[in-house]
Amino acid sequence: MKRILSGINPSSSKGLHLGNYFGMVKPSIEFQNEGECFYFIANVHSLNTVFDPQEVKNNTMNIFTEFLAFGINPEKTVFYVESDIPSITYLQTILNNTVTVAELQRMHGYKDKLAKDVEINTINAGLFSYPVLMAADILAFNADVIPVGDDQAQHVEIAREMARTFNNRYGNILKIPELYVKKEVARVKGIDGQRKMSKSLGNDIPIFAGEEEIKTQIMNIKTDPARIHPTDPGDPAKNIAFDYLSLLEYNKDKLTEMKERYKKGTIGDVEIKKILHEVFLDYFKDMREKKAELTKNKDYILDLRKKGAEKANKIAEKTLQKVKQAVGLS
Ligand code: TRP
Repeated sequence: MKRILSGINPSSSKGLHLGNYFGMVKPSIEFQNEGECFYFIANVHSLNTVFDPQEVKNNTMNIFTEFLAFGINPEKTVFYVESDIPSITYLQTILNNTVTVAELQRMHGYKDKLAKDVEINTINAGLFSYPVLMAADILAFNADVIPVGDDQAQHVEIAREMARTFNNRYGNILKIPELYVKKEVARVKGIDGQRKMSKSLGNDIPIFAGEEEIKTQIMNIKTDPARIHPTDPGDPAKNIAFDYLSLLEYNKDKLTEMKERYKKGTIGDVEIKKILHEVFLDYFKDMREKKAELTKNKDYILDLRKKGAEKANKIAEKTLQKVKQAVGLS
């Protein structure tokens, strides 16, 4: 059986959004039927942007709870929090020596930040070595497949490279994982219809927010700019609301009909957005209720977190022992 591993950085205090769900969460839930899954909340990764300790704690528990609400099955899946597995950060230190500074300088996360902030002096080493920590997450568990959004593909590639370098130097110790990018959903665009949905850009639709907040974001969706009156003909390709309706499995015939009406100018954008709001709340209804219920049951969540850590620690410790032995540290 294949071992599938993926993680999510809990850097947002607003919780998971539509893009996270279709890009990462939904495929992860489905993978539970296809292999042995390892999923975790990458809270150590979040330290390079979240500096408030209470926020780190809250975000970790919040996203952990949301994953459960979405349908992670903790009986089947090893579900844990990164900081509960100390072998990962030890492994990271060792893996630092399998990658060059030049290679890390080519990583998108670092390059984009450099392009944005200009001031190189403000970039912390945590961001720079983010891919090494990620490689440690992956390689500690001998994973076969790493499903990620396409923005993380480069990081998985470099983890593969690091494992190869390690193995060339010390023998066949680390498993080289495969990268899996689910193309059609990997990059859900935000409500600006332009850039990838991301909470830092403010173009997201949060799934567990209040109904009004969700509505506000939906009403802010950018639509065909050439269309001034609802009676003007519009181009459905320029209205991202249609894409969302399709993702949310809105009835295909109805969607086709709506697009036809849009082209003819017989349906207004507000009407489309109202439908989207209803479809959105309906689609996530059970998960929103589940989260509310789980949130009341803190002990249960903490118990799951502990059990997940126990299972994960056993495996990661074994890998670390092998690695330490291989490099001469044991
Ligand atoms: N970096 C990923 C993100 O930003 C999260 C992550 C951390 C991850 N470690 C990982 C994903 C290991 C896959 C495998 O979402």
